[in-house]
Amino acid sequence: MFSPADRRRRIGRVSDSGPEEVALAVRTAFAAASGWEQTPVAERAACLERTADLLEADMGRLIALCCREGGKTIADGIAEVREAADFCRYYAARARELFAEPIELPGPTGERNRLSLHGRGVFACISPWNFPVAIFCGQIAAALAAGNAVVAKPAEQTPLTAVQVVELCHRAGIPGNVLQLVLGDGPSVGMPLVADPRIGGVAFTGGLDTARAINRALAERPGPIVPLIAETGGQNAMMLDSSALPEQAVADILASSFQSAGQRCSALRVLYVQEDVAPRLLEMLAGAMAELRIGDPWDLSTDVGPIIDEAARERLAEHCARMEREGRLIYRCDLPPGAEHGCFFPPQVFEIDDIGRIGGEVFGPVLHVIRYPAEHLDMVIEAINATGYGLTFGIQSRIGRTVEHVTSRMRAGNLYVNRNMIGAVVGVQPFGGEGLSGTGPKAGGPHYLLRFATERALSVNT
Ligand code: NAD
Ligand code: ALA
Repeated sequence: MFSPADRRRRIGRVSDSGPEEVALAVRTAFAAASGWEQTPVAERAACLERTADLLEADMGRLIALCCREGGKTIADGIAEVREAADFCRYYAARARELFAEPIELPGPTGERNRLSLHGRGVFACISPWNFPVAIFCGQIAAALAAGNAVVAKPAEQTPLTAVQVVELCHRAGIPGNVLQLVLGDGPSVGMPLVADPRIGGVAFTGGLDTARAINRALAERPGPIVPLIAETGGQNAMMLDSSALPEQAVADILASSFQSAGQRCSALRVLYVQEDVAPRLLEMLAGAMAELRIGDPWDLSTDVGPIIDEAARERLAEHCARMEREGRLIYRCDLPPGAEHGCFFPPQVFEIDDIGRIGGEVFGPVLHVIRYPAEHLDMVIEAINATGYGLTFGIQSRIGRTVEHVTSRMRAGNLYVNRNMIGAVVGVQPFGGEGLSGTGPKAGGPHYLLRFATERALSVNT
């Protein structure tokens, strides 16, 4: 494994799981699942709470791993660990509420009816590299809280971070056979994992094409039909009208587009600016971008670190070359000396005439801007909805009527008004999209655990 910030720096060695190890992991978890399901929910929840404590205690090492392996800045690393601990505590609390006692239901005299929730067996938890602690840990915590055993498969780009998180989970008391870890890429490890008929459900976060491939594999395998919780990408837009406060809007645009080098599913990709204010706003945006510090994520003053790998850089470079031909470059940041040793990509903004030009999700520090006349408000809403994605959306406007009109028509899972569009907080802004952006339910929300569970109704003739 080499650091994305400097490909000359080796940060560790990993050996991938072979087919026998994947099968063994599933077999082991399958054998352990019913024991874990029978474990009182208070005990399962206590294990997750101890995991949260250990994550916090080991924060320094986890931040270093995020930074060295995932190219995250220190601020992003802190947020990762914070969010992972929040997931553990939140799902522990929800599990206590939902799983401790069955719901008593009405019935005729002489009959008692109860509804209870149970784990589904073994959940495969398949996660992306861009949140190697938070999403990796959040999926696992939810599945375990609901009484499932887990086989976790982190992204092939961030295995070292995953190993550390799983070690902490085991130290917190989650039995080794209940939480299994397999390492490797999608085709050779992820696919056989989801194709195994002993898998009782899949929690997946990643790209849309991968979600579709997993959905197909689940449909084609023998055995029961099981739930797929898929959280995928977005074509996230923000609208900005002439009543917006420009200084605040520029700060929000900058954070939404370029924090984490734009490698967040929630990141802003398309900014619609009302044409009257566009010249001033774009000038301010370019000025603010010129102040961004790009460089070593380990340096506290860095705003924008590297992107994850060479393949990502090539995809972004190809996209930006096309945008230069089809649109207009507004601003491109300079890379610092030495950047050629890492996978750096300069934050940049293009003006284009149509959201359709972008194609699919562009996963990096690239913002597209489209001007619109005030009377075209509904056409803008239609164009954004027509992409089919529905993850995050932002609006910068001080006109209550406009905000209400737009937010009530926008098909997006997370809508943000007069603020940035990233960093959803567990239990406060349940996160997840609709349409091409995901199946729901929302991570960090009150309904998430229900999808990891099966319901049983018990009727007793007394
Ligand atoms: P990816 O789809 O390439 O990989 C995600 C995971 O799936 C990895 O562990 C990978 O090994 C595995 N995988 C790949 N092919 C597989 C297959 N055929 N079968 C089983 N597993 C397979 O995504 P990525 O590049 O790691 O992450 C970036 C993507 O994740 C972006 O599209 C981003 O928007 C999305 N994302 C979404 C959310 C959300 O909450 N909606 C959060 C973070 C990232
Ligand atoms: N939950 C993450 C965010 O809101 C992806 O940025």
